[in-house]
Amino acid sequence: MLVLGIETSCDETSVAVVKDGKKVLANQVSSSLNLHKKHGGVIPEIASRMQLETIASVGEAAIIKAGIKLKDIDLVSVTNHPGLLGSLLVGVSFAKSVALSLNCPLLGVDHIHSHFYANFLDAKGVELPFVALVVSGGHTSLFYVKDFDKISILGETQDDACGEAFDKVAKILGLGYPGGPHIEKLARQGDPRKIKFACSGTKGEFDFSFSGIKTAVLYYVNNRRLATGLPRAKSMGEQQLKSDIAASFQETVIDTLIRKSFLACKTTKTNRLVIGGGVVANGRLREKFLASGNTEGINCYFPPVSLCIDNAAMIAGFGYQLFKKGFRSNLSLNALPS
Ligand code: KG4
Ligand code: ZN
Repeated sequence: MLVLGIETSCDETSVAVVKDGKKVLANQVSSSLNLHKKHGGVIPEIASRMQLETIASVGEAAIIKAGIKLKDIDLVSVTNHPGLLGSLLVGVSFAKSVALSLNCPLLGVDHIHSHFYANFLDAKGVELPFVALVVSGGHTSLFYVKDFDKISILGETQDDACGEAFDKVAKILGLGYPGGPHIEKLARQGDPRKIKFACSGTKGEFDFSFSGIKTAVLYYVNNRRLATGLPRAKSMGEQQLKSDIAASFQETVIDTLIRKSFLACKTTKTNRLVIGGGVVANGRLREKFLASGNTEGINCYFPPVSLCIDNAAMIAGFGYQLFKKGFRSNLSLNALPS
């Protein structure tokens, strides 16, 4: 079964063709990131305008790359929540018109659930049930996945998303957007034990809070008279301090993610932890999850880095699984931003 996946929830415009929920025949991704960089964050109006301009050509490229004809498509699967309203509407409208013209079924799927599904693409997959952790720029959630249509939320962030915290701390340190890769690079030269940062406690044991640690970094930087906003390291000393801040922040965040998700595994009595989302591109995160997993008997799974960021292959694959379980949408499908 050939599924056309469509993803436009944030700054990416992506169209993919996936066979039987696993084999990625094409996964075209076009990003408007360069247009947002100077603003230090995604500007919704710019994102949706670019998506409107590019979606048809990205779709055409996906069909050509997959080596199929558009009429071969058996299902159109599209992200319809959560995300930026204008961006989601571009994908949903495009998906409806393709499904209508092909007279084939349409299915709206959840972007966050699809992130962990990336682990099942071009891979053996993971036995059910499992605990899933999704850490991206907009979300941080822990799920218990009994089956692809039986997903219960165990906890989520109460304030900033994990990737958002990386982006904000990068801004405080005068680094570029998106901040995650910059923090990771700087942290390689830093001492992760140098500064004692902590993530705030939460009422729910599986919930997260990242806005407190971001503020702690801001105060730390202010107190050390590194100018906030756009500081430039003037000496090796300052440069080393910035690296230590990046490393200490990153280590604390990763340790918190490990502690909470391992606790979720123990509480639900599963030793399988499936992780997805943009932050999972972080090498230190992967290394630490694997090392702690070895010690504690928890098997951790990550998608390849190319499938961590927003992409339509995960939307096509997850849509296939739900379609097999009988889920369908119709032409009244709407975009649900949250
Ligand atoms: O999943 P994603 O592409 O978009 C959303 O659905 O939000 O995630 C983007 C987020 C950004 O906040 C970015 O800073 C973060 O993923 N990110 C990273 C790394 N690469 C991307 N965070 C930490 N380390 C990285 N190497
Ligand atoms: Zn995402």
